[in-house]
Amino acid sequence: MCGIVGAVAQRDVVDILVEGLRRLEYRGYDSAGVAVMQAGGELRQTKRLGKVSELAAALSTQPLPGGTGIAHTRWATHGEPSEVNAHPHTSGSVAVVHNGIIENHQTLRNGLKSKGYQFVSQTDTEVIAHLIADLRSQHGSLVEAVQAARKLLEGAYGTAVMDTNEPETIVVARSGAPLVIGYGIGEHFVASDQLALLPVTRRFQYLEEGDVAEVKRTSVRIFDLNDERVEREIVESTVNHDAGDKAGYRHFMLKEIHEQPDSLRATLEGRINAGRVVAEAFGAGSIDILRDIQAVQIIACGTSYHAGMVARYWFEEIAGIPCQVEIASEFRYRKSVVLPNSLLVTISQSGETADTLAALRLAKDLGYAASLTICNAPGSSLVRESDLAYMMRAGVEIGVASTKAFTVQLTGLLLLTMSIAQEQGKHVKPLVELMAKLPTLVEQALQLSSSIEELAEDFAHKHHALFLGRGTQYPIAMEGALKLKEISYIHAEAYAAGELKHGPLALIDEDMPVIVVAPNNDLLEKLKSNMEEVRARGGQLYVFADENANMEPEPGIQVITMQTVPDLLAPVVYTIPLQLLSYYVALIKGTDVDQPRNLAKSVTVE
Ligand code: G6P
Repeated sequence: MCGIVGAVAQRDVVDILVEGLRRLEYRGYDSAGVAVMQAGGELRQTKRLGKVSELAAALSTQPLPGGTGIAHTRWATHGEPSEVNAHPHTSGSVAVVHNGIIENHQTLRNGLKSKGYQFVSQTDTEVIAHLIADLRSQHGSLVEAVQAARKLLEGAYGTAVMDTNEPETIVVARSGAPLVIGYGIGEHFVASDQLALLPVTRRFQYLEEGDVAEVKRTSVRIFDLNDERVEREIVESTVNHDAGDKAGYRHFMLKEIHEQPDSLRATLEGRINAGRVVAEAFGAGSIDILRDIQAVQIIACGTSYHAGMVARYWFEEIAGIPCQVEIASEFRYRKSVVLPNSLLVTISQSGETADTLAALRLAKDLGYAASLTICNAPGSSLVRESDLAYMMRAGVEIGVASTKAFTVQLTGLLLLTMSIAQEQGKHVKPLVELMAKLPTLVEQALQLSSSIEELAEDFAHKHHALFLGRGTQYPIAMEGALKLKEISYIHAEAYAAGELKHGPLALIDEDMPVIVVAPNNDLLEKLKSNMEEVRARGGQLYVFADENANMEPEPGIQVITMQTVPDLLAPVVYTIPLQLLSYYVALIKGTDVDQPRNLAKSVTVE
């Protein structure tokens, strides 16, 4: 989704800004723009519809020299993707870039129009520019004008503002969308994600909700919700500087698929020992909370929701406690009943998904015993606002279609299940011991890569696909279908295999590939009957089957043999071939694998 980068320095900043935007490309966007303060206090800007590379090309023929600048990648919400709607937006001396949504933009727009302000775009952002320009005349400094504007703006947003009257200043405001200040030597930076700034600094200060900061070349002043001066901690980032590089892989997605054994090792490290989940694996004080938990409510979106759906089977079967899983955008708008001693679990790779965050905030007043987030982004809103946090340590994930974050989420959820079970007196030592095998099992599954690449040829010209699974493999089938949809644009649906005869069987013919995930568990025979139903109607089966599942290839049935894996770990391991399948199908189709059309990595708007 939208990205913000800004810099105040003695050197020309445009290259820093463009590199920052490149590093935010993974979030998804449709246009990009930059505004730089020229010597003498004149503001100049360049915007382009399409990729950051097009903006960079325009800047190479018409450079924008200057030491203070703001830049933006836009993901359209109000108004179509176009150069005129791209940010920055200006009003008089003021230029603004903005992430998120201003909900009362229409009312503000009407008021500003009646004062004579003219709007050239369809965006809600332009309202911010005119509003700050209007308030600027009543306030002595830009920061005061932004503080005043913050009180009038409704919605969840992050914004960065420049004013030709203060040519060496950027003012940023955080209200629902993340912002970070980067500290250089004699220069400062701002961004919506620290990743944008890693080439220039590793020292960061995360703004908190309601903060407004005045960022100059040699000073930073932060004001809280009540306009009081506050200090925010400066932290050293541990994120790898090269996290934004493809390391020789053709796409980030492929790199991230292959990083999974390492990510799984990292997430398990120091968290299991001698057949036990270590105390405090879920943060200080977590043991006392988990010991008394009697129910779990999981809330998430997208791929993270699928991880939660798998975990429901684990919580009920292994820990023996009821678990409900719900999509955040549904949970937040309905009245729900909270069971006694319920733990609220949010799952999110970004830690900033607007619906998940809103659901967490809402749930705070509903009487949950505690909230815990399983999250990959240190310092994110979900981490800061939850009682407990499990940091996933998956490493930065750039591909919009989530891969390594998903398998690490599953692992975190398994650890949580084991931890609750263990603290409540259940014997889970053999299961905890099994978890140490995960990285190696995933390594073995990755060896299927070339045979799956061949298989992908069969799918590239299909328009639809059906994924089937039972038990914990049902949500894995859902995740497989989502991956295929996201990056290859093939319509794919997942069904619990037992539901086949209640509708989807009507779709089966020779043009409908049916992908089945078939580990060797006690549901295998039932699954085989469902496959017969498909075969009898001419459907083409592609079965990822355990080597001991007694499945032989025959006309209409392709079998991709998987190594035998413990039932507990099968959801993680069977995810791998489905990720590879969608990747190779997308490769043949020539889609934009890492940045699929219309999608965003971090969905910070509702
Ligand atoms: C977007 C991403 C998905 C992700 C979902 C939830 O749609 O493209 O990959 O699963 O958001 O994001 P979260 O950061 O909360 O896991």
